[in-house]
Amino acid sequence: MEQKRDQWGTRLGFILATIGSAVGLGNIWRFSYQAYENGGGAFLFPYLFALITAGIPLLLLEMGFGFFTRNSAPSSFRKINEKFEWVGWWSVLIAFVVTVYYIVIIAWSLLFVFESFSLGWTADPEGFFFGEFLNFSGSAFNLGGIQWPIFFALLAIWLINYLIIAGGVEKGIEKASKIFMPLLAAMVLIIVFRGITLPGAMEGVKAFVTPDFSKILDWNIWVGAYGQIFFTLSLGFGIMIAYSSYLPKKSDVVKNGIIAALSNSIFSIVVGFGVFGILGYMAGQQGVAIGDVATSGIGLAFIAFPKAINLLPGLPQIFGFAFFFSLTIAGLSSSISLIESVVSSLIDNFSLSRKKAVTLVSIVGFVLGLPMVTQGGIAILDIVDHFVNIFGLLVVGLVEMLVLSYAFDLDKIKDNMNLSSDLHIGSGWKIMIKVVAPLFIGIGFIQNTISEFSAAYGGYPMSELLTFGWLIAALLVIFAVLIGRNSRNKV
Ligand code: PHE
Ligand code: NA
Repeated sequence: MEQKRDQWGTRLGFILATIGSAVGLGNIWRFSYQAYENGGGAFLFPYLFALITAGIPLLLLEMGFGFFTRNSAPSSFRKINEKFEWVGWWSVLIAFVVTVYYIVIIAWSLLFVFESFSLGWTADPEGFFFGEFLNFSGSAFNLGGIQWPIFFALLAIWLINYLIIAGGVEKGIEKASKIFMPLLAAMVLIIVFRGITLPGAMEGVKAFVTPDFSKILDWNIWVGAYGQIFFTLSLGFGIMIAYSSYLPKKSDVVKNGIIAALSNSIFSIVVGFGVFGILGYMAGQQGVAIGDVATSGIGLAFIAFPKAINLLPGLPQIFGFAFFFSLTIAGLSSSISLIESVVSSLIDNFSLSRKKAVTLVSIVGFVLGLPMVTQGGIAILDIVDHFVNIFGLLVVGLVEMLVLSYAFDLDKIKDNMNLSSDLHIGSGWKIMIKVVAPLFIGIGFIQNTISEFSAAYGGYPMSELLTFGWLIAALLVIFAVLIGRNSRNKV
């Protein structure tokens, strides 16, 4: 007999869980830097354009699809046609790979929460991060030993995820989101308030928002904006399909989706003010230009921020705590959604109980993450992240849109959503999904492929890029097809 499908308890719970998925490490460290680097205030144009032409339409497509099929990604695609089931597994496998490394970064954040109390990185945050903390060997092939503190933090984060997800959709995920999201909002307000009231903060904020329109003509910036929108809205991972499959029949999917998407962007922009306020303060203290203190990604969170925290007046510990604690919570609530995408697919297709599915995913995920807590870990993580971002989500998203547009009937998804929604979507939405978004994403894909072949990413040796980049990317597609052929519960 089929188990009764899990369901969200409240509308607010669903919205908070969706925002929890969307708001993550990317909002805190990726957005601000990308905006600054790509034209400041002018970046808002490509960003909003990508949000409107691809982000919100695809979010509503994924939500509407899960709401329509009431299944996770693989069996949703199977309902269109058996031969498309692999597309669902592909997105689920990408979610799994992202989970594996994303949780490692959350583990670092958690350890930095504790470092904040003692300001353990004092004097030389960069040396601390690559030296004492990661003990980086310099190569993805030179694993050296395991970094035990990171190992245990990784275990702890998996355990927290396990406990939440094993609790079920309403009693686990929804409940956790209702605690995490307000907590996150409070922490972020502290950070932003502290950030913009520091002396020199306005210089930083100015650098963040001053439009540089000369950049707007650069194609790469538009491609980058699409990538950021996909990542930030957690699209192409089967997450929104699974989350919406748990909605009660009478749900306002359209409004929920738009609220979640807008909240996520507002969050990014607000955090950007805080981040750049702090960088402005730091640049002023050191008498250097903002450009010299702003760095990208991992460096921003784990090196530039600790440097800034060192310089803060008053009790910098409190600020460090707020920053890394919010990073941890934002990450956790996103990892929950990544894991749920995988778990719900196992439940739907292999008649596993929720407990068994989470146990399996947690153990395999933890073990696969072990190379990333060794001394070569950060290089592996960086390469995997790069390849997933340029060849993972955008490509899956593109395939998803094309399959649903041309092998299925968008009207079925649209009408089903409109039926229970106050806000109605119309033919504009269909044009975005069928033509506009695929066009931009297709161009982006070609651009990415060209630049991938013209210069080795991050200066890594080809052998490392082949192993942790291309090989993993290829294996994902092969596994997706194989799992699709062997899943049970064919309906
Ligand atoms: N949206 C998250 C962020 O911005 C990242 C993420 C991607 C989370 C995919 C879940 C799934 O950090
Ligand atoms: Na999150």
